[in-house]
Amino acid sequence: MANVTVIGAQWGDEGKGKIVDWLASRADVVVRFQGGHNAGHTLVIDGKTYKLSLLPSGIVSGTLSVIGNGVVLDPWALRDEVAKVEGQGVSITDENLAVADNCPLILPLHRDLDGLRETAAGKGKIGTTGRGIGPAYEDKVGRRAIRVCDLAHLDTLEPQLDRLCAHHDALRAGFGQPPVDRAALLEELREIAPFVLKFAQPVWKRLKKVRRAGAKILFEGAQGVLLDVDHGTYPFVTSSNTVSGTAASGSGLGPNSTGYVLGIVKAYTTRVGSGPFPTELEDDVGQRLGERGHEFGTVTGRKRRVGWFDAVLVRQSCAISGVTGIALTKIDVLDGLERVAICTGYRLRGKVYDYLPSHAADQAECEPIYEEMDGWHESTAGARSYADLPANAIKYIQRIQELIECPVALVSTSPERDDTILMRDPFVD
Ligand code: GDP
Ligand code: IMO
Ligand code: MG
Repeated sequence: MANVTVIGAQWGDEGKGKIVDWLASRADVVVRFQGGHNAGHTLVIDGKTYKLSLLPSGIVSGTLSVIGNGVVLDPWALRDEVAKVEGQGVSITDENLAVADNCPLILPLHRDLDGLRETAAGKGKIGTTGRGIGPAYEDKVGRRAIRVCDLAHLDTLEPQLDRLCAHHDALRAGFGQPPVDRAALLEELREIAPFVLKFAQPVWKRLKKVRRAGAKILFEGAQGVLLDVDHGTYPFVTSSNTVSGTAASGSGLGPNSTGYVLGIVKAYTTRVGSGPFPTELEDDVGQRLGERGHEFGTVTGRKRRVGWFDAVLVRQSCAISGVTGIALTKIDVLDGLERVAICTGYRLRGKVYDYLPSHAADQAECEPIYEEMDGWHESTAGARSYADLPANAIKYIQRIQELIECPVALVSTSPERDDTILMRDPFVD
């Protein structure tokens, strides 16, 4: 298979950035196809850390990086991120970065609305990243978005602004907020337009060309299957489809382009924001895993909730997203535990479930059924060969593989790019 699609198979932050950066040396193009700068992908290369939210993780290794139409693009966030990453010595030009000219824009009014709604929701809040992602996707499907290509037509933007502002002014009034300052918005768009237009193009055409020439395409998902707006723990989800199939529609290639679907899976479970989490640990073990795994959000700095590995959820994600094989990350965080537990099913009102039911109230009531195993005292940190792993860590990996009904293709043993064990190469499998 020539192409690889990387997706998160839990609630995000599985280590997608690290794996995409590692795989990027084998690819010709890396493509982001959904989400926005709610993503936070961390790369560590020879001790130097790069944090990316919008830029595809191929950018650091110099691989052609494409932001596809399925992404919602905050142009000011893009400019800031480009400056930050360039400051770390990475060159970003229109040679190695392309932005789809049909991407909808995230505007300041989207950020406003995200914040107003979350504040008003009080305890019922989603716990969003506050970056305007949901409101921007709403405007896209509501057919009132301002898109990248509109930046080249700002002199005729008034009718579009009429539609957009009619909608937002009514919502803002409901929150006691003043109407959108149209003149200021137009001015801000005029100021940012040249920067974005430098990279803008019909990327479907560029991808078609490179694909015909035999290029290997690496699709980089953001978030995770359990945050998918259809399949996730609704309403505690993000506003895009995070499953592998979106790689095609979010970039302008056909469904046969996704190739090998690599699900990124953390060796335990984390979640940021609100919503059900059956295996959540609110004890010392959870605290220890959170500290050892540095489980703090890349984007918001929020503490991530931590729990045992949930094989039910990952099996479900792998099925829904058509995962060919997984990359198991952060196994080193479990080093030194006396016992480890894996969730194999749920008990809900006297009945046993082998899947997560769809209703939020049922999800919240699911009690995990655990299988316990002996842990390992030896260190797995930095291991680069399967043979270097302790016997009990191998047993743990094999048990996960059986329970999720999907093979393990890679194991990651530290944040560093090369601390990665390759069992099956997704690009040749
Ligand atoms: P992403 O959103 O899926 O790209 O993941 P994040 O970058 O938000 O979070 C993953 C965190 O774990 C980052 O800080 C990575 O540097 C780190 N990480 C990735 N793989 C490993 C691993 O195998 N072991 C350890 N200890 N850390 C890892
Ligand atoms: P990466 O790509 C983890 C979560 C937020 C919130 C919910 C909705 O780094 O894995 P949004 O701002 O998207 O409307 O928030 O989704 N969320 C993430 N959680 N990793 C992410 O991205 C996330 N992106 C959004 O915390 O619960
Ligand atoms: Mg992240």
